[in-house]
Amino acid sequence: MMFQTQRGPFPHTRLRRLRAHDFSRRLVREHLLTPADLIYPVFVLEGSGQREAVASMPGIERLSIDLLIEQAREAVALGIPALALFPVVPADCKSLTAEEAWNPEGLVQRAVKGLKEALPALGVITDVALDPYTTHGQDGIISDSGYVMNDVTSAALVRQALSHADAGADVVAPSDMMDGRIGAIRTSLEQHSHHNTMIMAYAAKYASAYYGPFRDAVGSAGNIGGGNKYSYQMDPANSDEALHECALDLAEGADMIMVKPGMPYLDIARRVKDELRVPTFAYQVSGEYAMHMAAFERGWLQQDPVMLESLLAFKRAGCDGILTYFALQAARALQ
Ligand code: PBG
Repeated sequence: MMFQTQRGPFPHTRLRRLRAHDFSRRLVREHLLTPADLIYPVFVLEGSGQREAVASMPGIERLSIDLLIEQAREAVALGIPALALFPVVPADCKSLTAEEAWNPEGLVQRAVKGLKEALPALGVITDVALDPYTTHGQDGIISDSGYVMNDVTSAALVRQALSHADAGADVVAPSDMMDGRIGAIRTSLEQHSHHNTMIMAYAAKYASAYYGPFRDAVGSAGNIGGGNKYSYQMDPANSDEALHECALDLAEGADMIMVKPGMPYLDIARRVKDELRVPTFAYQVSGEYAMHMAAFERGWLQQDPVMLESLLAFKRAGCDGILTYFALQAARALQ
């Protein structure tokens, strides 16, 4: 018996032999983190020459399009394949029905055009959801009683996704958790000859308390106030349901699926990868970033090794890539 402890194969089997040298550790290493695994989520602002720090996310800034392009240039130079774009929408562009979301001259649409013009090889991923555009901060259009209405919202998301594809987005990433929206978006993209526009579905997105700093960053925290997203995002207690969500999104035409948040949900990433065997991503969300940074700033944890260990964990769990606010720092550390 290999793993017997009493009268086992020791000392013939010494697992420490392979760990004794750098060369043998490298030879048997099972997983590797590279800059090509990283997707950088970024916050874009109106104006030019504008940058604003995000208080709960040290090291992360909201940038106007011109400065964002400079940052994206660095990401490309570091070998980061793609970034994910999130808009900080001015209050006077928000409404109950979020029409600004599909304005062809909107902030996201202009940012996509600017990025693709300056850096054609960089993958540009856009977020499809209405929360930056609604006065109430919900991801969809609400009824009189405040319930997020599925099919009306889905129709709005189709228009939003199409406007992103028209602007040149490579990947649209619906993060809203409405039922059936992947199929609706895919059908519309096909009808409008966007055959190669990819869909990265936030398929298993949980109603998590880890999104707080993000809502500060995009300025939707005040809008949603004491509200919550329990009627559409998943219950953190559920795991089988995540497989159901992912399977549906794939059947509806998603090219890649995502699990979100990341580190507290690596069990979900592993199940999804094992059972569905498709390109699987996870999002190390704003709250995960914030808690790491808080410990780094206090000197309680060592920054680079902890950051890289946290990202390697995603690879070990079966993820093909990671959306992470550490993307630039990690890619620098990996050079
Ligand atoms: C909203 C959206 C959220 C995030 C990405 N897209 C927040 C939410 O669902 O309230 C969170 C990302 C993060 O916390 O880093 N559609």
